[in-house]
Amino acid sequence: MPGGASAAEGPADGGGLAGGEGPAAVRVRGLRRVYGDVVALDGVDLDFAAGTFTAVMGPSGSGKSTLLQCAAGLDRPSGGTVRVDGIELGGLGERRLTRLRRDRIGFVFQSFNLLPSLTAAQNVALPLRLAGRRPSRGAVRAALDRVGLGERAGHRPAELSGGQQQRVALARALITRPAVLFGDEPTGALDTTSSREVLGLLRELVDREGQTTVMVTHDPVAASYADRVVFLVDGRVSGELAAPSAETVAAHLAGLERDTAPDGSGSADGSGSADAAGLAGTAGLGGAVAGRSAC
Ligand SMILES: Nc1ncnc2c1ncn2[C@@H]1O[C@H](COP(=O)(O)OP(=O)(O)O)[C@@H](O)[C@H]1O
Ligand SMILES: [Mg+2]
Repeated sequence: MPGGASAAEGPADGGGLAGGEGPAAVRVRGLRRVYGDVVALDGVDLDFAAGTFTAVMGPSGSGKSTLLQCAAGLDRPSGGTVRVDGIELGGLGERRLTRLRRDRIGFVFQSFNLLPSLTAAQNVALPLRLAGRRPSRGAVRAALDRVGLGERAGHRPAELSGGQQQRVALARALITRPAVLFGDEPTGALDTTSSREVLGLLRELVDREGQTTVMVTHDPVAASYADRVVFLVDGRVSGELAAPSAETVAAHLAGLERDTAPDGSGSADGSGSADAAGLAGTAGLGGAVAGRSAC
């Protein structure tokens, strides 16, 4: 298994597009997505290298969710290409795209999207059952074990904490061993403790299993668990950070905020618009950074 943490050791972004050495699990070129007269993505070129953990950040409305949806084959781009595991999504019809999404792509959301009447095990098994397969009890149990919830297989979502529910959602996303796991603000609905628990698990899956992971987040501490941070502004890649710390991420966001402030005055007083850029999550940086170094 590749040791994903090593990406933090070198100048991983030397080539510009790639987030580390190795082949790209996901390759995006010239990606555009237009909704009416709104340009959500305006020519995005990115590689997400296999076995790496990337955070995607940027102001609200900068195109983060659209990027993930297009890269995951949940939305069709207006232009450009997306390759997952070497397969170009644009060339696939609906049925093959659905199958590729099911087999090669995992997705978790801020709201865990578990079915409340089903147990953890039944939720994890659901995607395979919907695909007409009958996952073995052992496979479901193994998926729950990977997220540390083997003992909770019979619990329903209401009997689990938020962090545990998101871990069930992760087990469900990972049961097919996807080439890439996408998370759109997967810790956005969690308290600090549960959030750290889920982030620690994501990091562990990358390090232990080489699970390529791409996560949208507003929180610099969350981003510091990744190998690399990509910043979007107005549907374009505006910059990157390798081996991010919560401080370097927060500083980069503050710079973006100054550059994009409508009146050019920035937010040096830390009020109002700083929150809009997602800086609210910087509270408690010190402890969280200590936590990250233990990973
Ligand atoms: N389904 C949609 N219909 C119309 N506009 C959309 C749709 N989805 C996103 N947008 C617009 O595209 C832009 C980028 O949105 P989004 O990707 O959700 O941003 P982010 O996730 O960074 O907040 C925004 O201006 C948003 O209003
Ligand atoms: Mg979004």
